[in-house]
Amino acid sequence: MGELMRRFWMPALLTQELEADGKPVRISLLGEKLVAFMDSEERIGLLDEHCPHRGTSLALGVNGECGLRCLFHGWKFDVTGQCVDTPAEPENSKLAGAMRVKAYPTRVAGGMVWTYMGPKEKEPAFPHFPWFDMPPGSCEAFKVIYECNYSQALEGAVDSSHAGILHRDSAWDQPAKWPHEKDLRPKLEVEFTRYGMRYCAVRNDGEDKHARMTQVPMPFWTFIPPDGQKAPEFRRNRRLVNAFVPRDDYTTWHIQFFYDPGQTISREHRMAEANTPHDAEFFKTNGIGVWYNQDREMMRTRNMSGIEGVALQDHAVSETMGRIADRTKEHLGRSDMAVVAFRRMMLRAVRKLQQTGELPEADQGGFDWNRITAETFLFSPDKKWQDIQPLDEDLQPAGAAAA
Ligand code: FES
Ligand SMILES: [Fe+2]
Repeated sequence: MGELMRRFWMPALLTQELEADGKPVRISLLGEKLVAFMDSEERIGLLDEHCPHRGTSLALGVNGECGLRCLFHGWKFDVTGQCVDTPAEPENSKLAGAMRVKAYPTRVAGGMVWTYMGPKEKEPAFPHFPWFDMPPGSCEAFKVIYECNYSQALEGAVDSSHAGILHRDSAWDQPAKWPHEKDLRPKLEVEFTRYGMRYCAVRNDGEDKHARMTQVPMPFWTFIPPDGQKAPEFRRNRRLVNAFVPRDDYTTWHIQFFYDPGQTISREHRMAEANTPHDAEFFKTNGIGVWYNQDREMMRTRNMSGIEGVALQDHAVSETMGRIADRTKEHLGRSDMAVVAFRRMMLRAVRKLQQTGELPEADQGGFDWNRITAETFLFSPDKKWQDIQPLDEDLQPAGAAAA
């Protein structure tokens, strides 16, 4: 699965974490320890954290004059990983020219630094996602660590049936407030696509059917639909995109892009809404160690979960399964349809990669992502949701994947 992940461009860190000649940032990605830095000319390097001389962390180093200099003996590296100076070696030493530290390519878009960690000759075109083009202030990127495996974290986002229960805006025995809390048994339908899959949760809403269609592009994306016309105004058209990027086998970068071309996304408001404050390394300060500050009084009187913040509620249910949940002990039902489909999609892709060495889904640069959006909509019961949101022929999966 790691080899599969490496075929995709990944969001790695917030651009605001870096400044020219500023403090280098340590970051774990796909089980590797890396260091990111911005050089004097605002180029961004993403290097192996450990100096190839004797292994000191380059994150301790001096960032300046277009390179990162190791604190121990002063070896200096540029953003490409090339060693450009070895001040403690003899003046005629050829060591620097021959020495490199592992470096990954980087791009900047949508408030994040992105990287590609796969084989050089397989590097796909850089995808152009819709939130890259938002007017200033209308898109914000966030990140925090999920203390569990990436797939557990992601499976919470392809699980519409928990929305009216875990996130219920009233106590369990109080009347439901929102449409998705009134019909607790949405009908889930999944379609595999060329870029991954999409699924729709259909609920009854009076005379109409209420649909929430989520996109699940490979390998770790979920595009969540806006809350629709009945939601408070600031959430009506606001879009949320999640990336669950594996940090290692046991922790995940939960990266979120919020965007709405019609309004300014308030960073402070969003932070309060998610309620996932974190320390300098992006671990939550109100996580499993303090049992998510769950409040039993709140559960009795106004909120099913007793946990403040939708994101923190999601983190709680997935992290308390354990860092890697034992799937042999699960008992899946109808409501887990999209979770099952996600697992099948990923396992099928891994097998294909093992057998052929190829992964066409990784070529995300080839898509017009403006056509692949998550939507909330109403439709009349004599129609199917696909009548409203047809899957264009060129986005349909090739061959056996359609089954
Ligand atoms: S360990 Fe980095 S220069 Fe010696
Ligand atoms: Fe949720």
